[in-house]
Amino acid sequence: MAEGYGYGKVILFGEHFVVYGLPAIASALGSKTIAKIEKSDRFELVDNRMETPGYKKGKFYQQKKSLELMFKALGINPEKTPFRIVLEGDLIAASGIGASAASCAAIARALNKEFNLGLSDEKINEIAYEGEKGYHGTPSGIDNTAAVFGGLIWFRKGSPNVIERIKIKQPVEIVMGNTGITADTAEVVADVRKRKEKEPKRFEGIFREYEELVNEARKAFGEYDLKKIGELMNKNHSLLQEIGVSCEELDTLVNIARENGALGAKLTGTGRGGNMVALTPGKELQERVAKAIESAGFKVIRSEIGV
Ligand code: PMV
Repeated sequence: MAEGYGYGKVILFGEHFVVYGLPAIASALGSKTIAKIEKSDRFELVDNRMETPGYKKGKFYQQKKSLELMFKALGINPEKTPFRIVLEGDLIAASGIGASAASCAAIARALNKEFNLGLSDEKINEIAYEGEKGYHGTPSGIDNTAAVFGGLIWFRKGSPNVIERIKIKQPVEIVMGNTGITADTAEVVADVRKRKEKEPKRFEGIFREYEELVNEARKAFGEYDLKKIGELMNKNHSLLQEIGVSCEELDTLVNIARENGALGAKLTGTGRGGNMVALTPGKELQERVAKAIESAGFKVIRSEIGV
């Protein structure tokens, strides 16, 4: 039996903008998806991950496509050499936390071991990227990169992609609040593209504002200026509202987090559901914000960035 892992991730700056070649900042989460390959007389997938209700059913066909793409890229034929993939781990399967990328990274790593393919992390990342295409057609690559390499990263899509590690003085507590809504990344990304084509001037202005903001954020990470990072997260959320990817539930979560002392809060990932991330340095503030969100009836994840 072989085993592989992939980290969950949180996008701190730049979801959607990253699709158009602008830089983004993401951090891996402590939580992981684990994939186990077991002997079997036919191909099977047993998905034991915890989930936002409806997530696995909603992603069933995309997951199937994703597996096919990874098998093809790895040159594995599960009909000739059957096996069972078991997915588990402490990362909940939900929108906005890189669940699909974490599972692709975990499966690619596990198959690499099972079939003795001798792949490097860079190659594992390429395979996970192939798998991500099954979930959202033209992924930027930021999710699989965070899932494979971990840590806090600066990412810019291109050929090749720019992937740089951002070092920070010490990890910072965050709270993620889950709307309970499963978003379809491909659909939302396509809708943003349509809006951009309809209003090119307005989008150009927003993109320019975002680019300035993300460069300031990188500098603020270097200076460990958490107040500034929080302010920039708030601004990033406003820009995401302007491109039409927030929703009432996400705005509610953002407001609860800010009212309870978070230094900044924004939607993270696809939007129109999924998760919100709030910057809450210190266990006390993290607990206050997490409890406030829980009392409003939402599920939370307490985590850290820059670990
Ligand atoms: O919802 P998530 O965690 O899969 O994040 C999607 C991020 C997007 O920028 C919207 C798409 C992408 O490919 O980067």
